[in-house]
Amino acid sequence: MDAKIFFGSDPVTKEELSERRSPFNGEVVSRAPVCSEEDAKKALDIAKDAAKFAKKSTLAQRCAWILDVAQKLRENKEEMAKTITDEVGKPITFARIEVERCIETLTLSAETMRTMHGETINTDAMPSGKKTMAFFRREPVGVVVAITPFNFPLNLVAHKLGPALVAGNAVVLKPTPEAPLTAYKFAKLFIENDYAVPDALSVVYGDAEVGSALITSDIPRVISFTGSVPVGNIITKNAGIKKVGLELGGNAATFIEKSADLAEAATKCVLGAFVNSGQVCISLQRIYVEADIYDEFAELMAAATKRLKVGNPYDDETFMGPLIDDEACARAMGWVESAIEEGAIPLLVPHVEGRVFHPCVMANVRDDMAIVCEEVFAPIVSLVKVESFDDAIERMNDSPYGLQFSVFTNDLNLANRAIDELDAGGIVINDMPTLRFDIQPYGGVKLSGVGREGPKFAIEEMTEIKSVVIC
Ligand code: SIN
Repeated sequence: MDAKIFFGSDPVTKEELSERRSPFNGEVVSRAPVCSEEDAKKALDIAKDAAKFAKKSTLAQRCAWILDVAQKLRENKEEMAKTITDEVGKPITFARIEVERCIETLTLSAETMRTMHGETINTDAMPSGKKTMAFFRREPVGVVVAITPFNFPLNLVAHKLGPALVAGNAVVLKPTPEAPLTAYKFAKLFIENDYAVPDALSVVYGDAEVGSALITSDIPRVISFTGSVPVGNIITKNAGIKKVGLELGGNAATFIEKSADLAEAATKCVLGAFVNSGQVCISLQRIYVEADIYDEFAELMAAATKRLKVGNPYDDETFMGPLIDDEACARAMGWVESAIEEGAIPLLVPHVEGRVFHPCVMANVRDDMAIVCEEVFAPIVSLVKVESFDDAIERMNDSPYGLQFSVFTNDLNLANRAIDELDAGGIVINDMPTLRFDIQPYGGVKLSGVGREGPKFAIEEMTEIKSVVIC
């Protein structure tokens, strides 16, 4: 099936189509129109007009709209999960979980907006404010540009479309080139919907040229981007005066303190390091382990990793499928090999079959090795022996990123200190740093980004406060 452009509600195709091949078996799984700068501009013009209607639509209509999309997704869950697996190789069990999460993200967006309100302001607290009345309320910003990545090609689109549309904006979506059909099928549910705000959603496909036309235009008031640090930098430098929300990379870390339940910590760390083949911005990459328990923990990690079922993503039992492309495999293997040359010790033999990169646990690493200090975005986790809690905190913070960190401990004082001292957008106690509930604020500090997602927080970013005084 081919994806189509949506110029507002109008589905359009083109002569030139780009093919998407399965990262697992190389078969063509979808095709998408190759868009130009003009297509991006046309979509923005349509969105500009649509935003006027969107602003006048009722919240009741918009909530009914988003909830109906959630319902249709529930009815088409298996088809959507299969499309995700086809396009990005995510194991089918996890693709189903992503569809479930997406339904929740949409439902939360509607529920949150229903109860989100402004406040009265006590202007009579000011000496000159006697007999005045004041309040503020939230209004849609107008047009939002949403640019989304391959690793959660459905739910990360929902984290932008749900809040933006329910708040009364129009959106131009540019989904990842790796999963155009997932985005198209999802967008179709919004567009062909009885409650839809006409033309409020457009979808264009492409890379830098299309992205650049979207971000440099004066029409959007918010750019909401999830992706890499280099692209985040380009957006920041070129967007001009508008709000820019950036969900960028990370190299998430955890600390295993000696009072923790080691078996449980190892099970959770294996999940956090290898789920989605490590292609998660909050994938666990660095594990700092207190010296006394290091050997025991390393054994538990190696044993739990060996048990993972790796390979065919269409098999219900598979935990880890392929990486997204050959380049990702080559980069990850290059980093592993150079770490080994410099003295790192793999606890399992590193190997790749096709694009299936087997999970890799590395010991005896140094902080300056790429597998430790860069964002690996692949199933590679490093174990580092530390002498104390302070040492662990210092090394976890010694990173250009700060998305999510975690600590495993049964010592409440240490847990409190970790919450205070770790420099990240999110801290998890007694679970993997890869834990994300879609209702939570999500985003990072330092190079990990600017702004927060999670329906309530995204709605705040995608609305403007209007302040009113009645004299
Ligand atoms: C991400 O990779 O940033 C998203 C993680 C998630 O939603 O679980």
